[in-house]
Amino acid sequence: MEFHVITLFPEMFESPFRGGMIGRAVEQGLIAIKAHPLREHGLGNYRQVDDAPYGGGSGMVMRPEPIAAAIDAVNAERPGLWRILMTPQGEVFDNSMARDLAKRAPGLMIVAGRYEGIDERVRTLVDQEISIGDYVLSGGEIPAMAVIEAVGRMIPGVLGNPESLDEESFAAGMLEYPQYTRPEEFRGMTVPEILLSGDHAKIRAWREAEAKRRTARRRPDLLERRKF
Ligand code: ADE
Repeated sequence: MEFHVITLFPEMFESPFRGGMIGRAVEQGLIAIKAHPLREHGLGNYRQVDDAPYGGGSGMVMRPEPIAAAIDAVNAERPGLWRILMTPQGEVFDNSMARDLAKRAPGLMIVAGRYEGIDERVRTLVDQEISIGDYVLSGGEIPAMAVIEAVGRMIPGVLGNPESLDEESFAAGMLEYPQYTRPEEFRGMTVPEILLSGDHAKIRAWREAEAKRRTARRRPDLLERRKF
């Protein structure tokens, strides 16, 4: 699976994916992440990528031609990528969207916008607009990284233990049950007796009940839209 990101700040994509699970997957050739500098497609001597908004107002708006040229260049290098624009106005990203995106061979082309806005006509150049939540960041780079990490770990072989994918929060539409490790007592707080019992059937039932209780209390919205 390949991730191609069109960005004004390609260097932002260097260190975050060097270590950890995604870094290992890159080394193993399971995934590839490539940042394409948008500035190379800027206009004129100054490689301009933005301009003042028609109709007036503060701030600058990203022009469509550099983005279109960058998309065309990536498409020439790697045809068939699913095109995504990161924007706070997009569909809100979640685990089931990540699962669908992981099936988009040969991969994703992600446009990370910057500045105050993007020319409306850029929307016609992509297949999907995605937001990572109801807050505004100054650029789509960090949102693109969140998508790459969430999708990347769903690619077969990327996670050391594939079972943990199913057990995780959200996989079953619920938050995860409480986890404990050593020591048995920490600052007066003890590990629930049942986890020390060795009775696996009881432990499973306890975990399921705890996951439900926690989800009902913290995220009742998840229980309401549980799909399975
Ligand atoms: N760009 C700026 N804020 C964003 C958000 N919340 N999601 C996606 N892209 C963004």
